[in-house]
Amino acid sequence: AEHPYNHLTDTLDNGRIKFFNPQKLNDPRYDKLPLSIRVLLEAAIRKCDGLYTKKEDIQSILDWQEQQNKAEVPFSPARVLLQDFTGIPAMVDLAAMRDAVAKHGVDPSLVNPRCPTDLIVDHSLQIDYTLKNQEMELIRNKERLQFFKWCSKAFKNVNVVPPDFGAVHQVNLEYLSRVVQLNEGFIYPDSVVGTDSHTTMVNGLGILGWGVGGIESEAVMLGQPVSLTLPQVVGCKLVGSINPLSTSIDIVLGITKHLRQAGIAGKFVEFFGPGVSQLSAADRTTIANMCPEYNATVSFFPVDQVTLNQEKLELLESYMKAIKLFQSYEDPSEDPHYSEVIEINLSSMVSYVSGPKRPQDRVAVSSMKEDFQSCLDEKVGFKGFHISKEKQETRVPFLHCGQEYKLAHGSVVIAAVISCTNNCNPSVMLTAGLLAKKAVEAGLVVKPYIRTSLAPGSGMVTHYLNTSGVLPYFSQLGFEVIGYGCATCVGNTAPLPEAVVDAIKQGELVACGVLSGNRHFEGRLCECVRANYLASPPLVVAYAIAGTVGIDFEKEPLGVTAVGKEVYLHDIWPSREEIQQIEEDTVISSVFKDLGERMEKGNTFWNNIECPDSVLFPWDQKSTYIRSPSFFSKLVSLLPPPQSIENAHALLFLGDKVTTDHISPAGSIARVSAAAKYLLSKRLTPREFNSYGARRGNDAVMTRGTFASIKLQNRFIGKPGPKTLHIPSGQTLDVFEAAERYQREGINLIILAGKDYGSGNSRDWVAKGPYLLGVRAVIAESFEKLHKNQLVGMGIMPLEFLPGQNADSLELSGKERFTITLPDSLSPREQLTVKVGDTSQGKSFVVTALFDTELDVNFFRHGGLQPGLTPAECALDSRTAATFIISPVYFHG
Ligand SMILES: *[C@@H]1O[C@H](CO)[C@@H](O)[C@H](O)[C@H]1NC(C)=O
Ligand SMILES: *[C@@H]1O[C@H](CO)[C@@H](O)[C@H](O)[C@H]1NC(C)=O
Ligand SMILES: *[C@@H]1O[C@H](CO)[C@@H](O)[C@H](O)[C@H]1NC(C)=O
Repeated sequence: AEHPYNHLTDTLDNGRIKFFNPQKLNDPRYDKLPLSIRVLLEAAIRKCDGLYTKKEDIQSILDWQEQQNKAEVPFSPARVLLQDFTGIPAMVDLAAMRDAVAKHGVDPSLVNPRCPTDLIVDHSLQIDYTLKNQEMELIRNKERLQFFKWCSKAFKNVNVVPPDFGAVHQVNLEYLSRVVQLNEGFIYPDSVVGTDSHTTMVNGLGILGWGVGGIESEAVMLGQPVSLTLPQVVGCKLVGSINPLSTSIDIVLGITKHLRQAGIAGKFVEFFGPGVSQLSAADRTTIANMCPEYNATVSFFPVDQVTLNQEKLELLESYMKAIKLFQSYEDPSEDPHYSEVIEINLSSMVSYVSGPKRPQDRVAVSSMKEDFQSCLDEKVGFKGFHISKEKQETRVPFLHCGQEYKLAHGSVVIAAVISCTNNCNPSVMLTAGLLAKKAVEAGLVVKPYIRTSLAPGSGMVTHYLNTSGVLPYFSQLGFEVIGYGCATCVGNTAPLPEAVVDAIKQGELVACGVLSGNRHFEGRLCECVRANYLASPPLVVAYAIAGTVGIDFEKEPLGVTAVGKEVYLHDIWPSREEIQQIEEDTVISSVFKDLGERMEKGNTFWNNIECPDSVLFPWDQKSTYIRSPSFFSKLVSLLPPPQSIENAHALLFLGDKVTTDHISPAGSIARVSAAAKYLLSKRLTPREFNSYGARRGNDAVMTRGTFASIKLQNRFIGKPGPKTLHIPSGQTLDVFEAAERYQREGINLIILAGKDYGSGNSRDWVAKGPYLLGVRAVIAESFEKLHKNQLVGMGIMPLEFLPGQNADSLELSGKERFTITLPDSLSPREQLTVKVGDTSQGKSFVVTALFDTELDVNFFRHGGLQPGLTPAECALDSRTAATFIISPVYFHG
């Protein structure tokens, strides 16, 4: 059929490249839209199919000025980004679909994601100081790696980035971000949804994207849009010029602080104004990456000359200009109209660190010495340790490698240069490297008992540190590369020397860790280190050399050389020009080319992993990590259409604020749990259980882990725990065992709950788990929206009590039986009657079915996201594995 917006097509490059040009709508509102909203509009136009994306949606987006915070609109990103934890269940589902279609005589090689999917294997790195990290990581994760490798070969549209290549956010930025996509002769802006919280980083390059839950990302892989409330957009206007001594980090933290104070939770932030052009692409991505810190959905930097310098593509520039997604800053009258505007003066940014206990407690470097002193004096709190005056003078001598040293309050014992999150900025890492070089040349050293480390974030960072010649100097100061992935900032440091720990304990000292991550809290680095400061990488080097945080860099020397010469920080601090020169010479020119090549070659470990060439995945029946899930067979037996629920029992009777962590805990597997029983039956020892997070590829474990939280408050049971009442027998059982028994007895299940059901982190198993337990509906006072969507996605009805009502006001004991009859055609937010108990007695109450849109109703009627619906298929009410799996949405090409 003809595309409804064919009349908007335009061409470039002598007609060889086509695109949809929203300017051809000739609608004056387009020029006033924030550029991030223009991206949403272009995607909606391109993806308009009358089902998932309708003409009304395009109208709503155009009418953003009126519709912000009101209209629900669809967004079809150009690609999906998965990291290993969340990638496993999605890929396992696709592999299982292949089995299912093969059983029905269809060619399984037709089952592929529709939306290009990048899968990055980066998690579970633990720093192990006795074995080589990479080998350890690979041994621990062999089964999963084999599965990923199979995925990379078997599926079209799936790109697997091997382990040890770097943490997901950095790879996303450096390799996978393309600013525009060129596909089958069409050019369009790049955009992404991902399951990693750092997905937002790419907004620094003008690529719109944010993090979503596992189920949502799976839906996008299968060609469906995500749904969002048309966001408010806060314009952040940058003015003034950058102070030469401020690092990029200072700028980033300064801007972040402003945004945090502005209270912009849930909104888009978009940068504009004359100051923006002073920020490098790296600065922008760093700011964009920090947006979880200030709760914005995205921090968007429209494409401008700075972005293009990095890309060097004429086509890209003409395209972005043609659809007005290019920002020039020259003419303020071209500025979009924002929901509100915040102005930030860049001249006001100076150097800060933060700590000693919380990232939000910033201290100007110039007042660090006084601040630490006052922390020693103050009573215990975020800014206090309450050390008595006489104890503040404590000095504890100890021996390390045959030499005597002394520790005092403020002594630095851990110094970690980490290029992660806010510090993946090449200029900042180079500043640190140059500082190390100049320090070594000046004859300074770092005391050997300080646990120093360098975690570059990706192989690429090591590469440019090496090509720019600074890596050996890091090494000379003790900052050796320890591996990639999330290391020190998630608590995986190698232990401190025992003599140091003893000295700290003996003197009850407030010892310090200094690191360049972006999250920390007391004791997280290491139990005995009570003060932890976040600082930019060059300051981590500086404090490591000084050996203490109690130093005023202006007045006191950083160190004294062997020949007694005092060296100050300003003597060796590299200039901005010096850094930029090196950045241009080494980072930008070489690395971007090199990376793609290395990606192709992969690393030797990855290449040596054996994996079959088959179209179907050869499931290993013994595997306790990767198993074919039972949705597809269950779908037939468990949810026959029509979907009325008769005489259901309540599996659980819950109160307010049941979080996703209650529903599907991610942590360790308790030794007395249904999942543990299962794993023991597979001959695993408790030491080998691993966490629920690591076993997301095993539905048997995850189903047993559903509601397995020890903090679950079930009103059927007096105390917290993962137990419930099997009502017919009156027995108290594990939730899983009760559900299994109900399923055997053919009894439908619902859940009763209070307010805010399903708040917290989204994860795919929070909906899949209850589904596999046989839960058909959740009746609650209110739902967290994302979780509500996930329930709809799995075909579980989210039903809301009428305002003011709840289980208590309706005098429900929870032990009644519940019948919910669905009308033949269900409309959004329809009110349904729930009959309670013996229907002849006529007790009943009314609930609102929280299907907000027609699309929700469609999802639900077809058992959630699995059906790729065409309008014709919506008419089908018989639902079998075959009809939904064979639907064309799953097929690429
Ligand atoms: C920014 O701040 C500097 C120094 O405080 C001041 O001189 C300058 O005028 C300010 N710029 C703007 C545009 O407000
Ligand atoms: C961000 O959101 C979380 C949870 O919604 C909230 O606890 C926190 O206070 C918010 N932070 C800011 C800076 O708004
Ligand atoms: C640094 O570069 C040199 C020379 O190109 C190479 O031999 C060495 O292996 C590199 N080191 C690292 C850690 O990449």
